[in-house]
Amino acid sequence: MTMQKYRILIVDDEKNIIKGVSATLRDNNYDVESALSAEEAIEKFSNGSFHLVITDLKLPGKSGVELLEFTKAKDPDIPVIMITAFGTIENAVEAMKKGAFNYLAKPINPDELVTLTSEAIEKYELRKENTTLRTELKEKYSFGNIIGKSSSMKKIYDVMQMVANTQSSVLITGESGTGKELVARAIHYDSDRAKRSFVTIDCASIPSEIMESELFGHEKGSFTGAHERKTGLLELAEEGTVFLDEIGELDQNLQKKLLRFLQEREILRVGGTKRIKLNVRIIAATNKDLEAEVKENRFREDLYYRLNVISLSIPPLRDRKDDIPLLANHFLDKLNQLEGKQIQGFDDEVIQIFTKYDWPGNVRELENIVERAYVLCPGVNISIKYLSSKLRDLMKDRSEEFDELNLVETEKQLIVRALNKTSWNQSKSAEILGISRKQLRTKMKNHGLLPA
Ligand SMILES: Nc1ncnc2c1ncn2[C@@H]1O[C@H](COP(=O)(O)OP(=O)(O)OP(=O)(O)O)[C@@H](O)[C@H]1O
Ligand SMILES: [Mg+2]
Repeated sequence: MTMQKYRILIVDDEKNIIKGVSATLRDNNYDVESALSAEEAIEKFSNGSFHLVITDLKLPGKSGVELLEFTKAKDPDIPVIMITAFGTIENAVEAMKKGAFNYLAKPINPDELVTLTSEAIEKYELRKENTTLRTELKEKYSFGNIIGKSSSMKKIYDVMQMVANTQSSVLITGESGTGKELVARAIHYDSDRAKRSFVTIDCASIPSEIMESELFGHEKGSFTGAHERKTGLLELAEEGTVFLDEIGELDQNLQKKLLRFLQEREILRVGGTKRIKLNVRIIAATNKDLEAEVKENRFREDLYYRLNVISLSIPPLRDRKDDIPLLANHFLDKLNQLEGKQIQGFDDEVIQIFTKYDWPGNVRELENIVERAYVLCPGVNISIKYLSSKLRDLMKDRSEEFDELNLVETEKQLIVRALNKTSWNQSKSAEILGISRKQLRTKMKNHGLLPA
């Protein structure tokens, strides 16, 4: 491992001090540069930055405090240590109020110098890490709302960037909750189609009988009940993007029609005779193994190849664990903005558990678990006790230390939250909670949420 050498700038008009301090720091393996005035120091900054500045308070031109202000403006993370003569300690304290890291009194004690220096550098590293994490979050890795810095996600961004402005069809595969829809949207919003529509069609939820007319539209009177002409979703997406979700569920008849559309880029409304030329981009997604579906003759091979011109396979979260802390913090930030609580972060154990866990529900599951913990947590940090027992058990050896969670209260809070989210619609709330409406009503009664 190569050790990074830290660069320190020492500023003093007394050459002896510079000599002494430089020698001590060099002995401790730091890279040292010196300047005899604040002006010279500022100039040195134009040849690169420093990890630490040590400056005398009293300098011939601009003062040490002015240099401090310059440094803070340039990069607030760089620590500054002030050197002060006996009798001017008050000035040093003043400087600390302005953001100086600490001060050293003359005559300088080498041990104190070394200790303070290593403390300052350590703090610098910590701050840098935080700042990087924050800007990484802010940049959101340049793709819409997609968070992730793992190498596998970076490769996906590269492909997305390359294909955004082409007309090629894209097939996105990945387990449930890996972010397929998010990726589809990001491709659309990063392309020159962004000003046009992004139309989603969920092939799993539209009954096959009406799917054709949904996709291609129909003419008035084309079948019983067709009282009006209807524009299909493909036509609505003209010059935009159509997202065909759960494409693996499309029935054979429609697979054939979709293939024809992809070959000819024309549609025929149901009951119509006129072919309509369209310019739409198709992005399809599935959590099925389409190649296997093709082998089993459930999915047309020719359609598979038409869709799979560009393929993006999003890895499950357990295969990119680097992204977990980043994602968890991202969801926390979002909740803080939305809900108004200010929770600062996660206890180390929580992140440890998150990294240990396998995430069968992928990013969606992580989002839900962070949200649940957020709702329950009254403090400044999310601690292990706000995780479900299933997760807490991953740290079994330590779980006895933690308070018993008040399960009854937890349940009540989750129910009230689901109810509030749905304007007290019991069926919808039951769905969110993953229980039957009857079970919900029983629980509501027990918690005094229903008139007895
Ligand atoms: N990389 C990511 N960064 C931020 N949020 C993400 C990321 N991946 C997924 N999410 C969030 O997780 C949730 C699930 O994502 P999405 O709906 O895109 O998954 P999906 O792969 O389409 O799942 P399904 O197969 O179940 O439809 C969404 O709320 C989404 O915003
Ligand atoms: Mg989806």
